[in-house]
Amino acid sequence: MSVVAVTGGAGYVGSHAVKALALAGYDVVVYDDLSAGHVDAVARVAADVPRRNVTLVEGDVLDGPSLAGVLRRSGATAVLHFAARLSVGESVHDPLGYYRTNVAGTMSTLGAMADAGVERFVFSSTAATFGEPQRTPMDETHPQRPINPYGASKLAVERALPFVEHALGIRWVALRYFNAAGADPDGRLGEDHRPEEHLIPRAIRAAGGGPPLTVFGDDYDTPDGTCLRDYVHVTDLAAAHVQALDALASGRPSSAYNLGNGDGHSVRQVLAAVEAVVGRPVPHTIGPRREGDPARLVASSERARRELGWSPRYAAIETIVGTAWRWHEAHPDGYGRPGHGAE
Ligand code: UFG
Repeated sequence: MSVVAVTGGAGYVGSHAVKALALAGYDVVVYDDLSAGHVDAVARVAADVPRRNVTLVEGDVLDGPSLAGVLRRSGATAVLHFAARLSVGESVHDPLGYYRTNVAGTMSTLGAMADAGVERFVFSSTAATFGEPQRTPMDETHPQRPINPYGASKLAVERALPFVEHALGIRWVALRYFNAAGADPDGRLGEDHRPEEHLIPRAIRAAGGGPPLTVFGDDYDTPDGTCLRDYVHVTDLAAAHVQALDALASGRPSSAYNLGNGDGHSVRQVLAAVEAVVGRPVPHTIGPRREGDPARLVASSERARRELGWSPRYAAIETIVGTAWRWHEAHPDGYGRPGHGAE
């Protein structure tokens, strides 16, 4: 069976993809510097899918020779590339760091692949490459004009990929996630960012007695005044990566895909879903708008449905919140390894 290398595979979306790969019959070598990922996430997949070989190598994507060595020794035939920094707000203050990890780190990864003769690449991209929406829902033809260094760093890679393919023969799929959310329905993997900036885990913590939530603005031009987002289950995103590998294996041309459910949920609707799932109110106040937040971000994923056969299984917001709650309830301290977690 073929081996897939997963950079950043100890992180949130990455670890769910590692599980999906193992369940689909791949052996997996995770390459992660553990600046943000969790050793335990990979260990859990290895324990839960014992018939597959799932291993972790600690390393930095900027260390091309180290990654090339891992690719060669493992016999990997494809790379799923999750290793990246992902906070929009942080990127505004540290553009150099974001370009270093997200752009230089990806170029280093592609170089290592070329050195090792690996020719299939699946890239974690983002709705943030689009910037301010000009229409909703957004399909792949929507103009890409990012408004922060995070989105710009991911778009820089997207722009490089056709040239890299032409010169080095690496075929690719770029998957643009909208709002990744939820947790492994088996309850084994979940979201453990440190600090946690995302709405659903923050709302769950607030409902459980944690810090009250601040709603970032209620004066947007939306039905209830709060921002609309397209929350998409992390396990559905993981499935798209396996389907992207299948598409590349079957000779489908390189392409980018938007991944979302096509439904916009407002912040208030998410809080109502959390209250219904948890059975307690979410204490919150209304604060000012957060810089750089568009009013609405909703995907059209028709291309992914048509070309990859992608069909989200956990689309309902109650299911997304329910799986996140189940993870939080069983793991109030996340993976519980301070110093070994951030992403
Ligand atoms: N929000 C609050 N209060 C909070 C946290 C969030 O009101 O404490 C609101 C935000 O303003 C936004 C919504 O909840 O309207 C979702 O916010 P998140 O921080 O959970 O997610 P974002 O939409 O900001 O960003 C996510 C990813 C980015 C990605 C983007 C693209 O984190 O990496 O989706 O859609 F670029």
